[in-house]
Amino acid sequence: MKWIETASYEEMSKMAADLFINHIKNNSKSVIGLATGGTPEGFYKELVKSYTSRKVSYARTVSFNLDEYVGVTAESEASYHHYMKKRLFNYIDIKRENIYLPNGDTPNLEKAAREYERQIEESGGIDIQLLGIGTNGHIGFNEPGSSFENTTHVVELTASTREANKVYFERLEDVPKHAITMGIKTIMQSKKIILLLSGASKREAYDRLRTGEVTEQFPASALHLHSDVTVIYTGVK
Ligand code: PGA
Repeated sequence: MKWIETASYEEMSKMAADLFINHIKNNSKSVIGLATGGTPEGFYKELVKSYTSRKVSYARTVSFNLDEYVGVTAESEASYHHYMKKRLFNYIDIKRENIYLPNGDTPNLEKAAREYERQIEESGGIDIQLLGIGTNGHIGFNEPGSSFENTTHVVELTASTREANKVYFERLEDVPKHAITMGIKTIMQSKKIILLLSGASKREAYDRLRTGEVTEQFPASALHLHSDVTVIYTGVK
């Protein structure tokens, strides 16, 4: 695991964005993995900038998001579909048919999960995956205790995750109780992983990841078993 500290949030975002942009520029087709949350907002601004300044085209990029809420329509403002459109997809030339998020708005979630794994596989697998980290060490919505062997599946969100995500909703009661997420195994199959970590609220997660201990009680620790992970972090102390 490679650790890079940056002087600011903006620098962290730019460094991560450049890794994706260079990958996209240097390959005829790219499959990228994306994340939602507060941390990658600056990263998405950089990707949009790279397109508007004609530095890169996303016309041959395929994207897979980590997760989506269950029981929320893609059109709903609370959905990750909506988050991604608002921050990235509406402003770049990625083809709509090349955008994938898990489908949490279906009665057959298990089928949707299998379908998502199939789509990732058919795309040739994810070349470079962006991750945030929860204060409890979750990656995607893989909460503490998740098996490292899980592929895409439905999870019950923990109280701390629902609390952290309530900023996107009017009331805590509105935050969905379930989500559909790539599993740790899915994430670990990405060829390269970039994890962003920013701010004092992530200090404990940072310290715990730094110890190197691998345990299902701290999902991000699985990343110690991957050969190409870069953590870009700022403002933890
Ligand atoms: P955040 O979420 O970027 O909003 O802190 C990260 C996560 O929960 O994975």
